[in-house]
Amino acid sequence: MSKQNALLSAGNIGDIAVANRVVMAPMTRNRADPDGTPNDLMRDYYAQRASAGLIVAEGTWPVAAGQAYNRQPGIETSKHIAGWSAVTEAVHQAGGKIVLQIMHAGRIGSHHIKGSDVATVAPSAIQARGEVHTDSAGMQPYDVPAELSTEQVWQVIEEHRQAAKNALAAGFDGVELHCTSGYLPMQFLCSDSNQRSDEFGGDVQGRVKFAVECIRAMASVFGAGRVGLRMNPGNRFNDTKDADPAGSHIMLLEAIADLNIGYLHMMRAPIESIDAFKIGREKFTGTLIINDGFDANLANQAIEQKQAYAVSFARHYVSNPDFVKRIIADLPLTKFDRKTLYTPGASGYSDYPNAEM
Ligand SMILES: Cc1cc2nc3c(=O)[nH]c(=O)nc-3n(C[C@H](O)[C@H](O)[C@H](O)COP(=O)(O)O)c2cc1C
Repeated sequence: MSKQNALLSAGNIGDIAVANRVVMAPMTRNRADPDGTPNDLMRDYYAQRASAGLIVAEGTWPVAAGQAYNRQPGIETSKHIAGWSAVTEAVHQAGGKIVLQIMHAGRIGSHHIKGSDVATVAPSAIQARGEVHTDSAGMQPYDVPAELSTEQVWQVIEEHRQAAKNALAAGFDGVELHCTSGYLPMQFLCSDSNQRSDEFGGDVQGRVKFAVECIRAMASVFGAGRVGLRMNPGNRFNDTKDADPAGSHIMLLEAIADLNIGYLHMMRAPIESIDAFKIGREKFTGTLIINDGFDANLANQAIEQKQAYAVSFARHYVSNPDFVKRIIADLPLTKFDRKTLYTPGASGYSDYPNAEM
């Protein structure tokens, strides 16, 4: 018998009833068809992992301009909706719950991936330092982005509403806004990448507005209790720089307080001076999910000690589709192969077996 009773107990994440507190964290795996359509591989991969209380499906672009990576899925076209419908149906049939992470990459974009007719956009025309792997031309610098006009920012917010409508049509149980890792909501939030002087820029009240309005739009479709927000204050990935990361994130949580969204999905801060989990507990009244570097024992302890309601796991889920069963039966975990994290095909994706009992 497992001793992880807190982690394995049923409950509710926002308005979503879950069989346990084990959440599969979102992981970009780049297995979709070239046009972003989810396929049978993705259906099998997610269905294999349906014993998680909740799956947060990988960062998915709402519109072509928001795509970051080759073979990253979208939720824009009727083909995308049909592909994701097969995924959600398979997960539900296996008894699981699944929400979709909406990820607009903003300036983390390359025309070698999106095609030269698709713009790369951002709060300000400031190129992100760094390079991205492209299938057609190897490593490439990010595009110099075009600055969005105020009217265009409102359009991008509407695109988030439409993405949520499409996710609802595809049978998802909810949606999560990807507000970390240097993608568009973070580009608005951070003082370095947002040099605007309109209502979406300037001081921190202006810089939080884009994320607030995206969340409001997503909640208008699903109901607030089925909307989540992913955060990681202090994250510097993809050239993210902010003069006061803790202050910006606190301001964002204060600005969404009256929206009463279902959950906050908080990653551990990569710098010691920020206690992200404490910020989550103090500034958010909905369900708190915490993440980064947990095993089942530590996760169970964290829930017992009321540090959080649920814990999410990413890397364990790469190679342990039956992670929950392994917790219950105290079975060893399989290590994953780094080389196949982002490569096309089933190898290192949907071919990791369940544990032998
Ligand atoms: C292959 C891979 C892809 C990831 N893709 C995403 C993503 O699409 N969205 C996101 O918010 N986080 C993403 N992450 C971060 C994970 O969700 C998670 O926060 C991180 O791996 C730490 O959790 P862990 O220690 O349980 O692995 C990714 C991580 C990995 C390893």
